Amino acid sequence: MTQESVRGWVVVVTGASSGIGKATALALADRGARVVLAARRVELLEATAREVEDRGGEALVVPCDVTVRAQVEGVARAAEERRGRIDAWINNAGVIAWSLFEDTTEEEFRRMLEVNLMGSVYGAWAVLPIMRRQGSGVIVNIASMASLVALPVGSAYSSSKAGLFAFGDSLRRELKGSGIRVGQVLPVGVNTAGFFHQRTRGFGLSKKVAPLLQDPETVAKAVLRCLENPWARNIPLGIQGKAALVFGALAPRLVDLFGGLVARPVQKGGRLTSPMDNLFEPSEAGHDIRGSGRRSDEDPTPHLARREGR
Ligand SMILES: NC(=O)c1ccc[n+]([C@@H]2O[C@H](COP(=O)([O-])OP(=O)(O)OC[C@H]3O[C@@H](n4cnc5c(N)ncnc54)[C@H](OP(=O)(O)O)[C@@H]3O)[C@@H](O)[C@H]2O)c1
Repeated sequence: MTQESVRGWVVVVTGASSGIGKATALALADRGARVVLAARRVELLEATAREVEDRGGEALVVPCDVTVRAQVEGVARAAEERRGRIDAWINNAGVIAWSLFEDTTEEEFRRMLEVNLMGSVYGAWAVLPIMRRQGSGVIVNIASMASLVALPVGSAYSSSKAGLFAFGDSLRRELKGSGIRVGQVLPVGVNTAGFFHQRTRGFGLSKKVAPLLQDPETVAKAVLRCLENPWARNIPLGIQGKAALVFGALAPRLVDLFGGLVARPVQKGGRLTSPMDNLFEPSEAGHDIRGSGRRSDEDPTPHLARREGR
């Protein structure tokens, strides 16, 4: 099978307002794809669209909350009506939260499943009839290494990403021979605004970890690989990803031990320490691709006029 080119493809990216989604939209534009940008923060989607256009690309902005199935279907409808087809759909929108399981509320647990799992399920339901009619298409899920190696202090996140990963594998097998492919990318820790603006309870993530994190552009490249290489399936990212896979499979007791050490200092009954997060509502912070280990509302976002008080 030969390598494909995404030039001219219509590609929907959910969660394109910041982080990995924005990096992916720009990488796709650089390769000549026509991107459809979906998320809740329209002002940021429009900023991404202007950056795409500055690179000579074409972008369509469609506001969407992925937990509302009708809105996800609206994205697919708008893309097909305005661009004529959908060649690929990237299920990237997602939220991260850190909390001991016993302190996690039912509302928080459900919300993680609704955004990270159901948001992608709605995406697949919306786009599959279109891809079936075309006889071709690629769906890519941004899963996580937590899909395979569950994180302590992150039971809701790990459950949502394990569910997403199983969903993607199941779908790929069902679609075998249909002309529609499914790829999944499994990043470890990525230096995005999302990483630094997640809901955290009982502990604080040190910004000193920033140099150890993966680049959002590395994730974007893996997404391109899923689109352009018909053999691509699930891509664990970087040396961190491969190490996590090997240890998870060969030394699970060591992983239990390490996980226990990570969880021990987290204070039970601790209070929320994140000043703002995007679990339920779009965040006022996190405007750009990178978190850079600092408050990303200090990051310069090209083309975005700053509002008073931000
Ligand atoms: N950063 C990491 O370490 C890491 C590691 C592994 C996997 N991932 C995954 O990578 C994906 C992107 O995360 P990121 O790190 O790039 O964080 P990010 O910068 O916060 O991006 C998250 C994106 O998801 C969107 N989103 C959140 N809730 C949404 C909702 N209800 N409806 C529509 N869009 C929603 C956000 O846009 P709006 O707020 O504008 O809606 C934003 O564009 C997520 O699925 C995450 O789980 C990240």
